[in-house]
Amino acid sequence: MTPIAATSATSLAPVVVVTGATGGMGSAVVEELARSDATVVLLGRDAGRLERTRQEIDARTGGAGRLVTYETDINSAASVDACVAALVAELGRVDGLVHTAGDGPLAPLAEADDAMWQATFNGKLMGAVRLTRALAGPLAEGDGGSVVLVSGVFRKDPDPLFPVNSAVNAALAAFAKAVSKDLGRSGVRVNVLDPGAVRTPLWDEIAKAIGDRTGATAVEVTAQVAAQSPLGRLADPVDVARVAAFLLSPAARHITGAALTLDGGASAGL
Ligand SMILES: NC(=O)c1ccc[n+]([C@@H]2O[C@H](COP(=O)([O-])OP(=O)(O)OC[C@H]3O[C@@H](n4cnc5c(N)ncnc54)[C@H](OP(=O)(O)O)[C@@H]3O)[C@@H](O)[C@H]2O)c1
Repeated sequence: MTPIAATSATSLAPVVVVTGATGGMGSAVVEELARSDATVVLLGRDAGRLERTRQEIDARTGGAGRLVTYETDINSAASVDACVAALVAELGRVDGLVHTAGDGPLAPLAEADDAMWQATFNGKLMGAVRLTRALAGPLAEGDGGSVVLVSGVFRKDPDPLFPVNSAVNAALAAFAKAVSKDLGRSGVRVNVLDPGAVRTPLWDEIAKAIGDRTGATAVEVTAQVAAQSPLGRLADPVDVARVAAFLLSPAARHITGAALTLDGGASAGL
């Protein structure tokens, strides 16, 4: 864990930590929050990717928010604890967490080996556990902390091609519900966001993997998935980012322990 760079010296704006900050949804969340003057802490495993992401967002937002990068491995409790101690010492407060780090391997039961299961559990679920645990104290000291955990629609609509994410997403939402009851007493809200298909680098991989099985191109798979949705489109990362920003904001002050679906109406059930 290393504090790498920041764009301006001081800020009194809310401080929000974003995991998976180099990824499709994570970088969109960082950009959305930066436009609202927040101080945003970008977490990721690769210092080079983090710095490139920071510079690109800084250029697009004209330096509106303060962007701070910490090279951190959320697969390690020691790395997370050291990161949180350092960022609290540097910034003095933390008001929010948006956890987008995670993968989504396409692998039915026979193909999903232990390593695949463990990688997704360790990053997506245990990463959320480690960050929420380490930040619970600092979040409780502020004026209404908020935690947003990105899960996915397989939580409520498990898919045989994605047993790993179906299970991990359900576990993540159960974790959020359980700790929302605990942290709510200290004014900290915990909610889950369940996106359907979102145009990110991960989606590109998934569309290609589906296409390899069905004889279609990734573009054709994407068009088919879009056509299945009542709104006829995939989500863009900014669609997720705006809802995450809402859940972080005082406008959502009475929402906790909730799971919000963001799939353009594609899910069959309620
Ligand atoms: N895209 C979709 O259609 C979709 C739909 C539903 C749910 N989701 C979920 O939404 C979340 C974000 O997805 P995305 O589409 O934004 O993916 P993405 O573009 O691949 O970005 C995910 C980021 O998470 C980090 N990451 C991945 N696996 C990790 C691990 N095991 N441990 C720690 N960090 C890890 C990576 O950052 P570093 O390597 O830089 O650390 C990566 O940049 C994921 O949990 C995914 O399962 C995605």
